[in-house]
Amino acid sequence: MKKPDFHILVCNSYRVAGDAQGYCNKQGSTDLIQYIMEECGDRGIDAAVSSTACLNVCAQGPIMVIQPNNLWYGGITEEKIDDILDALEEGEAVEDYLITD
Ligand code: FES
Repeated sequence: MKKPDFHILVCNSYRVAGDAQGYCNKQGSTDLIQYIMEECGDRGIDAAVSSTACLNVCAQGPIMVIQPNNLWYGGITEEKIDDILDALEEGEAVEDYLITD
């Protein structure tokens, strides 16, 4: 099996019991996941895109994490995703969108 170059994780607020209904989900992360998948396909970025449970940084959501780079982005929108993927293609990060502790 060929492993993808990147694993992009997007919080969709899943809880151990029950439906996704936390902050990132309410901010539209489901649609953002679809957008990221389409953009990666269009750009030829070899990435697996997964939705996750709450990543415990809800106040800065919606959250997108790019591995293995360990880049944690907050407050993502389609426009920010465009910038983030532009930077990823250049091997860089968008410092302004990275979340801090
Ligand atoms: S619901 Fe997304 S970080 Fe908590």
